[in-house]
Amino acid sequence: MGIGSSDSIQVVYLRKKGKVSDNSNHKKFKKLEEKNQKALEGGGEERIKKQHAKGKLTARERINLLLDEGSFEEMGKFVDHRSTMFGLDKEHYLGDGVITGYGKISDRPVYVFSQDFTVFGGSLSEAHAEKIVKIMDLAMKNGVPLIGLNDSGGARIQEGVVSLAGYADIFFRNTRASGVIPQISAIMGPCAGGAVYSPAITDYIFMVDQSSYMFVTGPNVVKTVTHEDVTHEDLGGASTHASKSGVTHFISDNEVQCIRDIQKLLSYIPQNCEDDPPRFPNPGQKDTSFLDELIPENPNQPYDMREVIKGLVDDRSFFEVHKNYAENIVVGFSRIGGRSVGIVGNQPSVLAGVLNIEASRKGARFVRFCDSFNIPLLVLVDVPGFLPGTDQEWNGIITNGAKLLYAFSEATVPRVTVITRKAYGGAYDVMNSKHIGADLNYAWPHAEIAVMGAKGASEIIFKREIASAKDPEKKLQEKIDEYTEKFANPYRAAERGYIDEVLMPSDTREKLIRAFEMLENKVENLPKKKHGNIPL
Ligand code: HXC
Repeated sequence: MGIGSSDSIQVVYLRKKGKVSDNSNHKKFKKLEEKNQKALEGGGEERIKKQHAKGKLTARERINLLLDEGSFEEMGKFVDHRSTMFGLDKEHYLGDGVITGYGKISDRPVYVFSQDFTVFGGSLSEAHAEKIVKIMDLAMKNGVPLIGLNDSGGARIQEGVVSLAGYADIFFRNTRASGVIPQISAIMGPCAGGAVYSPAITDYIFMVDQSSYMFVTGPNVVKTVTHEDVTHEDLGGASTHASKSGVTHFISDNEVQCIRDIQKLLSYIPQNCEDDPPRFPNPGQKDTSFLDELIPENPNQPYDMREVIKGLVDDRSFFEVHKNYAENIVVGFSRIGGRSVGIVGNQPSVLAGVLNIEASRKGARFVRFCDSFNIPLLVLVDVPGFLPGTDQEWNGIITNGAKLLYAFSEATVPRVTVITRKAYGGAYDVMNSKHIGADLNYAWPHAEIAVMGAKGASEIIFKREIASAKDPEKKLQEKIDEYTEKFANPYRAAERGYIDEVLMPSDTREKLIRAFEMLENKVENLPKKKHGNIPL
C-alpha cells in the first residue's frame, strides 16, 4: 500500500474526530503526502526502467522481498545531500540514494539499508553515510542483525573527502560491531574501490551471479598497472569471488534467490552475541542405516562428506557456506534435533580432504563466526594431513594452518568431533581434538588415528628391514598390515580417553542429539586479556 494513501486515511480520521477542520492543516498533510510520494520515486521512472532492464530490482523492491510484509519502518526518508558543487545544488532526491530502517524477518527484528542505484548510482555521500551510520548505531544498541543491500558506484565523486570520511565511519562501526551483532552484506551491483571493505569486514557476503562485482581496482587500472586484460566479471564477478578468492560466501542466480538465502542464513543464527540461535522442534528419528555402508573398505577411496552430514542432521537442514571455495573442507549451518550447529568437515572426495591454506582459512573463519554467536560446533574428521609442497610452504601454510588450530582452541561453544576415517599427524590435533578443548570426541570403527598412514609409516620405520628382505614388496605389505593392526584404528586413542566412544555410524545422529542437549548450558571462560593475537 502506498504511503500517500495511508496518510489520506489519517487526515479523514482526524477530521472526523474534529481535530482537523481548517485548510491550513490540510495543506500541511498534503505536503507530507507529496514528500512521501516523491521519496518513493527514487531517481525517477526512466532510471527505474533502466534498473529493471538490467535484470535488477530497485532498492525498495529488495527491501519488500527481504522483510516480513508490512514490517518495514523507514528512517530518514527525507534526508538530502548538502552539496552545491558540480551542479549538485540543482539535483536533489529525497533519501539521497539509500533507504534505511528496520523491520522483521520471520518475526525477528533486523536493521537494513538498501542502496538506490537510481539516485546518483547509489553513490555514497556524506548524508547517505550518515543514514547508514544511524541504523548501525541502533542495531548495536539494540542487539539486532544488520543487513546491507549494496548497489553503488562508490564514493559520491562530486563530494570528495566527506564521502571518504563517510565510508570510514561505516568501516569503523563494522569493526566495532563485529562479534556483537551478525552483519550481512549482499552485493547486488557494483562495489569497487575502498567500498569493498565494509562488506569484507561483515560476517557474510552474498553476491548475485552476472550482476554484481567487487574489486579494489577495476579492469582499466589493472590494464595500466599490470598490462593484464581482464573483464569485470573475470576480475571480480560473483563466480570469481565464490571459487577463486573466497571473498563471497554465497552466490545466487538472481536477486530473489539471494534474498531467500539471506533469510535462510538468519534462521540458524542468533540476534546478537548474548542470544541463543533459534530453536526448532526435534523432527525425531530417521533412517540412518546407510551410514554403516558409506565408508569404503579401501582407505584411499573417496566418499562425499556431505552424505555423512545428510545422515546426521535434520532433513534438508544443511545450509552450506563457501560451497565452491576450498572444496576440500565443507562448512555450513545445520540443525540436529532442532538445534543449530555449525559443521566443519574434511571432504575426502576433493584432494583427499587434505588441509591446505585455503581450507584452513575457510574453516577458521567459520569456526570463529560460530564461536562469536553461540553456535555449537560439530567437526567431522577424515584428514590425511597438511598439503605438502613449495607453493604451500612459501605462501604460509604454517601461519594459515595455525589459524584453524587457533580458532578451535579459542572456541568456547559446545564442541563435538566425529572421526569418520583418517585423523593423521598434526591435522588430528588441529581438527577439534580433545587436546585443544573439544567436549566430546567420537570415532567410527573405520577410524585411523595415527601419526601417518600405514604405508608411509612402514616405509620409514621398517626401511632397512624391507630393503634387506628377499621380497621387499611382500615385506612392506607385512609391515603395513602390522602397523594397521596396531595403530590404524580408533582403539589406541580410546584407551587413552582421547576418544570418548567408538560408535556405529548409524547410531551417531541420536548420540549427537543427546550430546548437544547435554552441552546446552556449557560455560567456559577464556583467560582475561584484551584480545588474542590470532596468526593473521
Ligand atoms: C556520483 C555516480 C557515481 C559516483 C555513478 N554515478 N557513479 N555519481 N558518484 N561514484 C551516477 C552516474 O553519473 C549516472 O548518473 C548514474 O550514477 C548511473 O551511472 P552510469 O555510469 O550511467 O551506470 P552504469 O553504466 O551502469 O555504470 C555504473 C558504474 C559507473 C560502473 C558504477 O557509473 C562508474 O564507473 N562510476 C564511477 C565509479 C567510481 O569510480 N567510483 C569511485 C570509486 S572510488 P545519471 O544522472 O546519468 O543517472 C571509491 C572510493 C571509496 O569509491 C573509498 C572508500 C574508502
